[in-house]
Amino acid sequence: MAECVLGVDLGTSAVKVSAVDREGNVIAQESFDYPLSHPKSGYSEQNPNDWVMSTTVAIVRLILDDKVSTSDIKGISYSGQMHGLVSLDKEHDVIRPAILWNDTRTTKQRHEIDDQMGDDFVKITGNRPLEGFTLPKILWVKENEPENWKKTAVILTPKDYVRYRMTGKLGIDYSDATGTTLLDIHTNEWSKQICEKFGISMSVLPPLIKSTTDVGTITKEYAEFSGLKTTTQVFGGGADNACGALGAGILSPKVVLSSIGTSGVILKYEDRPVDAYHGRVQMEDHVVPGAYYSMGVTLAAGYSLSWFKDTFCQDIPFTKVISGAASSTVGANGLLFSPYIVGERAPYADADIRGSFLGIDATQDRNDFARAVIEGVTFSFRDILNIYREQNADIDEIVSIGGGSKSDLWLQIQADIFNTPVKKLANEQGPGMGAAMIVAVGLGWYPDFKACAEKFVHIAEVHNPISANVAKYDQLYEIYQQVYLQTAEISHELQKFKK
Ligand code: XUL
Repeated sequence: MAECVLGVDLGTSAVKVSAVDREGNVIAQESFDYPLSHPKSGYSEQNPNDWVMSTTVAIVRLILDDKVSTSDIKGISYSGQMHGLVSLDKEHDVIRPAILWNDTRTTKQRHEIDDQMGDDFVKITGNRPLEGFTLPKILWVKENEPENWKKTAVILTPKDYVRYRMTGKLGIDYSDATGTTLLDIHTNEWSKQICEKFGISMSVLPPLIKSTTDVGTITKEYAEFSGLKTTTQVFGGGADNACGALGAGILSPKVVLSSIGTSGVILKYEDRPVDAYHGRVQMEDHVVPGAYYSMGVTLAAGYSLSWFKDTFCQDIPFTKVISGAASSTVGANGLLFSPYIVGERAPYADADIRGSFLGIDATQDRNDFARAVIEGVTFSFRDILNIYREQNADIDEIVSIGGGSKSDLWLQIQADIFNTPVKKLANEQGPGMGAAMIVAVGLGWYPDFKACAEKFVHIAEVHNPISANVAKYDQLYEIYQQVYLQTAEISHELQKFKK
C-alpha cells in the first residue's frame, strides 16, 4: 500500500478513522460506536475514555484487518464534536463525564452570562452565550459540583483529549477554542475579561495551537497500545464543522455548506469576524489559517428524521421512509413540520421551544409526514440562509453533505427551498476528510488547503432549482416563518407536563 494519513472523525455517536493516500483516495476506513448517556432530561454526557478506546480499536482494525502498513502512516489529525467540556485534574485524569454540545442543562448559566456581559460578550467572542457552548458548562460545574471544579486543573474539548492521550501534549486548536466562547475572536487570545468576570483561572485553559501545528509524534505508550509507530506525526486538527467545510472544499465566501448530521448546519466561509451578525449565527475561527466561518445550527436535523422513523416506522428501512416522501407533494399534502424537537439554536436560540406538525389531515399518510419532516428541516436551514441574505451575501452555490446529500429528493428539495444550485460531492467523506487534509498540508504534501482541495475534493452532481417548486416553497416558507412565533408560548407551557 501507499503512504497515507489518518483522519480521525470523533463524532457524537461514533468515531470513524479514514486512511487517505496522497491523491485523496480513502484506502481504508473503520469506525466504532460509543454510548451517549442522558442521566437526566436535557443532560448529554460521554466518557472521554470511550473516545480513546474506540479510536484505538478503529486504528487497530485498519492495521490488522485492512492491512494498512504502520510505516506507511505518515501522520494523524482529528475532527471533533465541538464544545464538549472535558475536565482534567492535575494528574490529567478525567474528573467527570464530558458534558456535550447537545446538553441543555445550562440555561441558567447562559442567562447569567448574558446578564453580566450583554453585548460585550458578543463583541469579544463573536457569539451569544448559548447552552451548547463550553463556558456555560464550566459555570454549571462551578455552581453545581464545586468539589469537581476545585480539582479542575485543565479543560479540553473532545478531540483535544484524544490527541492528548496519543501525544501526552495538551493543546486546543483555534477552531475549537472559539467554540468555548472564552477566546477573543479578534485577538485570538484567551479573554482575560471573560475569565475574570466569571472567576475562571486562565491556568485551566490549554495552550492554543493551529490546526496544522505539528504537535510531535505519538508516545511510546500509545504506540505500544495501538500498534502505530512512534514516528507518526500528529497535527492539531479542528472542530467538526470546520473540518466538514474543508473536506467539502468550502474555501470561498460565495459557496455555502449545508450539512445534515444529527444536528444540521448552514456554514459560510468568512475572511474576517463579521460583527453584523450580532451573534445570530455563530462566528468561529477556521482550520484554514487566518480564515473564519459563521454558521447557524439546527439542533435536530437528521435527528428529526431518525426520531420520526424510530417512533413511527420502526420496521421500515430508512431509505424507504425517505424515498416514500417522493410520492407526497411539494408542501407535504398540506402538512408542515417544525424541527424544534430538542429545542433550537439558530435563528431562535430557545432551548424550550418544541416541534410541531401543523395541518394534520385524515387523508395524509406516512409519506406525507416523512416529506413534511424533510421540508421542515430544510425550511429551518433557509431561516439561517436568510440571515446571510439580509447582509446581501453573494451566494452562488451550496454544497450539501451528510444525510441531505444521500437522497436525490432531499438534494432537490434543498435546491428548491434555497432557490440556489445545490451540489453533491463525489465520494463524500465528511469531516474526516478535512482532518486528513490537515495532515496532508501539515506534512507539506500540499503547499496550502486550496491546492489540497483541488486534488481531494470533486463535485459529482448539481441540482438546479425548479421554478414551479421554488414559487410554492416561497409561499410555504412564509407560513413556516410564523410557526415559531405562534407556537413558542404554547410549547413553553406544554413543557410543564413532561415526565
Ligand atoms: C456546532 C455544534 C454541533 C457539533 C456536532 O456548534 O454544536 O454541530 O459540533 O458535533
